[in-house]
Amino acid sequence: MEQGETLRLQNRPEDIVRAGEILRGGGLVGIPTETVYGLAANALDAQAVGRIFTAKGRPQDNPLIVHIARWEDMLPLVTEVPAAAEALEQDYWPGPLTMILPRSDRVPAAVSAGLGTVAIRMPSHPVARAVILAAGVPLAAPSANRSGSPSPTTAQHVLDDLDGRIEAVLDGGACSVGLESTVVDLTRAVPRLLRPGAVTVDMLRRTLGTVEVDDAVTHRLQEGAVAASPGMKYKHYAPKAQVTLVRGTPEAFAAFVNQRAVHEPDVTAMCFDGEEAALKVPFVTYGRRDNAADQAQHLFDTLRELDDRGAKRVYAACPSEDGVGLAVYNRLLRAAGFEVIDLD
Ligand code: TXA
Ligand code: MG
Repeated sequence: MEQGETLRLQNRPEDIVRAGEILRGGGLVGIPTETVYGLAANALDAQAVGRIFTAKGRPQDNPLIVHIARWEDMLPLVTEVPAAAEALEQDYWPGPLTMILPRSDRVPAAVSAGLGTVAIRMPSHPVARAVILAAGVPLAAPSANRSGSPSPTTAQHVLDDLDGRIEAVLDGGACSVGLESTVVDLTRAVPRLLRPGAVTVDMLRRTLGTVEVDDAVTHRLQEGAVAASPGMKYKHYAPKAQVTLVRGTPEAFAAFVNQRAVHEPDVTAMCFDGEEAALKVPFVTYGRRDNAADQAQHLFDTLRELDDRGAKRVYAACPSEDGVGLAVYNRLLRAAGFEVIDLD
């Protein structure tokens, strides 16, 4: 779109109505969800969907998630509802879970980047639900960041990236989860986790039995390999600094970082809360070591803070891969371009 004013909307009834009008008219609106802010457009309007890719600078081959507020609104969008989808809906919708299902012709090909599948999510955030209902159409919404930068968890983050490029942003406060939804592919013989999130692998297995974890969750995609989830192949969530993950005890981490600072200029440590005492370099913290949900909530804000500080070389304390920790680890691995140093 041409550069223009981005309207600031609040969480008031008249603002929700306005957001719905803009969306129905083919415009783009940044909206809060429980995971991260989304950049929403009418999912049934191919032209509006196309503008999402332009505003974000998003590669055309990276498909979008379609957001709905009611189960029945999903049915026209898919050609089949597997039993696994009904079971997951019972347990985790509305919430931070996205299901990949066979796409119907009602969904423009641009939404799914030409794939025969479509990603569907029913968010739990009351403002997201209200905007979907006000728009009266399903909403395609990727995270509302410029492609490649950390996902936004506040309305200000959305403006920092997209001010003047979108019609409006609706401020619903900070996101409670802080990381994007879990993505599970239900179009295979065995359900497969494509992106970890707040709905953990154990939670999926409790509902579905066997669930495979895609290799790309914890490994770099081989050169030339086809990504199950196209978004996984891009360097993502990356601050401008060069980030390396460091696995080890708080003592080993501090000793390592202090030693690196002797040889390298501009070292910043990214550590857990309460583990900064022994550090002799500037630092940021991103939550408690034993609390993955806390880390998830603060991770993207911390990565943006590193940019604001102009950090150049960052060593980040490695999170646990258990539970929600797998999602934190997955995002940090990408921010670090898969650079991990093991001190254990
Ligand atoms: O929490 C979230 O999911 C947020 C909020 C706004 O809902 N949205 C979000 O969208 O994270 P985005 O576009 O940043 O990430 C969507 C991910 C990408 O990795 C994409 O490749 C994958 O979902 N995806 C979308 N459609 C797919 C499909 N049909 N098959 C496989 N992967 C798909
Ligand atoms: Mg994204």
